[in-house]
Amino acid sequence: KKVVLAYSGGLDTSIILKWLQTEYGCEVVTFTADLGQGEELEPAREKAVMLGIKPENIYIEDIREEFVRDFVFPMFRANALYEGLYLLGTSIARPLISKRLVEIAAETGADAVSHGATGKGNDQVRFELAAYALNPDIKVIAPWREWDLSSRTKLLDFAEKNQIPIAKDKRGEAPFSVDANLLHTSSEGKVLEDPAQEAPDYVYQRTVHPEDAPDTPEMVEITFEKGDAVAINGEAMSPAAILTKLNELGGKHGVGRLDLVENRFVGMKSRGIYETPGGTVLLEAHRGIEQITLDSGAGHLKDSIMPRYAELIYNGFWYSPEREMMQALIDKSQEHVTGTVRLKLYKGSVNTVARWSDHSLYSEAHVTFEEDAGAYDQKDAQGFIQLNALRLKLLAARNRRLKG
Ligand code: ARG
Ligand code: SIN
Repeated sequence: KKVVLAYSGGLDTSIILKWLQTEYGCEVVTFTADLGQGEELEPAREKAVMLGIKPENIYIEDIREEFVRDFVFPMFRANALYEGLYLLGTSIARPLISKRLVEIAAETGADAVSHGATGKGNDQVRFELAAYALNPDIKVIAPWREWDLSSRTKLLDFAEKNQIPIAKDKRGEAPFSVDANLLHTSSEGKVLEDPAQEAPDYVYQRTVHPEDAPDTPEMVEITFEKGDAVAINGEAMSPAAILTKLNELGGKHGVGRLDLVENRFVGMKSRGIYETPGGTVLLEAHRGIEQITLDSGAGHLKDSIMPRYAELIYNGFWYSPEREMMQALIDKSQEHVTGTVRLKLYKGSVNTVARWSDHSLYSEAHVTFEEDAGAYDQKDAQGFIQLNALRLKLLAARNRRLKG
């Protein structure tokens, strides 16, 4: 039996690795991905070797470009927000990790994949729905749902017995659980579990406190082509380079912090602290360019499906026909979403202050308060209003009649 494990190199997935070897008698293949979480990957290789993984069974990959190009950017074309606020930073990374797990399983002749998500959360659902959608025969091993290492003490005992090194700061309870990638950092659990208590400042890892942000605002220009950001301040960059740069700018100005109680797919509510600096800037900029390039009918239609699209991603249905159908609609709407937006970053806020495009639908000739040289006949509005008012008048007349 052979299993491909999503391996971070941290304590928990190292314990899972050992557990798969000892309790399951599996040959383990490890997959460690650079999704922009800002951690060195080579220590994960050394640890895997130390835990007895054959060199040819260690996969370490930088998938940041694929992550942003094929997952983050398509999602941002939709302006997706879950429950009005969450930019889906963890949700959108899971399908890509699963895709690579399933591909590596095929390459190495493994029949199963494994992950370190608990049985209480969304991530298990996302990993597994994606894996089954890509390979209906794949087996999934989710140790957190199976083993009896139910307490920190039992986990540490298991680690000690199996010579898994435990960093000094990992002996005590971690103060909260973190998931990070190029799009966001999320923190949940432990000190954050009571939503009536404010999150301590040390939870925030990649944004400055807005009150400590620079006193001078900073302007940034983002250029879009067909709905995707392609340049910053006139300089063309790759998708991952763009998000990296926007993270730096947003983080410096305290942009993109969120304290949210959300509804997990498995039924419970949970409280999370999110930092999505670059993503928050990108969402504002994308809305800014859509303002002048999207037709109202097209824009209102895509906005109306956005909450369902976001919910599909949150719930783990990235690889589903309905997500792909919505994506086709959203992508079609982006044909003319090309142009440049200027934004102002200042003490936690990001605002569009100017936008321009060769594809603009904005017509100053029509909207002007000045003489419009015959572009628009104000008399046309009279009939427009009368016909739209007709049913409202009939309703009002009936109400008056019935009231006597
Ligand atoms: N609540 C967020 C979501 O469901 C973040 C999950 C964080 N995951 C983690 N393994 N810490 O998308
Ligand atoms: C987990 O339970 O592993 C993290 C939280 C989540 O998946 O929602």
